[in-house]
Amino acid sequence: MSKTIGIITGSLRKNSFSGSIADYISEHAPAGYEVKNIDISRLPLYNQDYDGQDISEYTTFREDVKSLDAVLFITPEHNRSIPAALKNALDIGSRPYGENVWNGKPGAVISQSPGGIGGFGANHHLRQVLAFLNVLTLAQPEAYIGAYHTLIDENGALSNEGTKDFINGFLAAFAAWIEKVS
Ligand code: FNR
Repeated sequence: MSKTIGIITGSLRKNSFSGSIADYISEHAPAGYEVKNIDISRLPLYNQDYDGQDISEYTTFREDVKSLDAVLFITPEHNRSIPAALKNALDIGSRPYGENVWNGKPGAVISQSPGGIGGFGANHHLRQVLAFLNVLTLAQPEAYIGAYHTLIDENGALSNEGTKDFINGFLAAFAAWIEKVS
């Protein structure tokens, strides 16, 4: 039976670069895996007062994450950190206290930017949060994809062959990591 990798992108932007990487990965899932996009764009802003209430968007999101075998985060950098929408999703999944849906999931992080350092700050802020949430995050290879706007075609699809090779290798390492820690 195939395993499911959930992709969570940190961008809400139409035609997002993170979404472009997610599209490539959806079409090139490792053998034995299927990929499911988990939408975080409609999640109301987390409020602890909602713990114990049935907020339908929260319930669906938490159940979706629980059903995954692994989680792959693909994110831009906002002011040297992760976008607020992504932090919101991480917080929603972490609560109510004691019901952290991220707990024990194998995970991996890809950051991208038009800039040269490829979202390094966001990547490592995300890793810090994932450590606390007990996501078993792939250490190597790291994925900081810089100058992303130069790696796509006129439709926004990833077209750079070297980057495709890098992502294919990254996915193979992630699949091996999932097998190791599952
Ligand atoms: C940015 N951007 C950005 N880029 C970067 O490399 N470091 C940064 O700190 C920031 N900060 C930042 C803040 C805000 C509020 C915005 C809107 C943008 C640029 C941004 O990360 C970049 O355009 C991403 O590649 C866009 O990714 P998506 O949204 O297309 O996936």
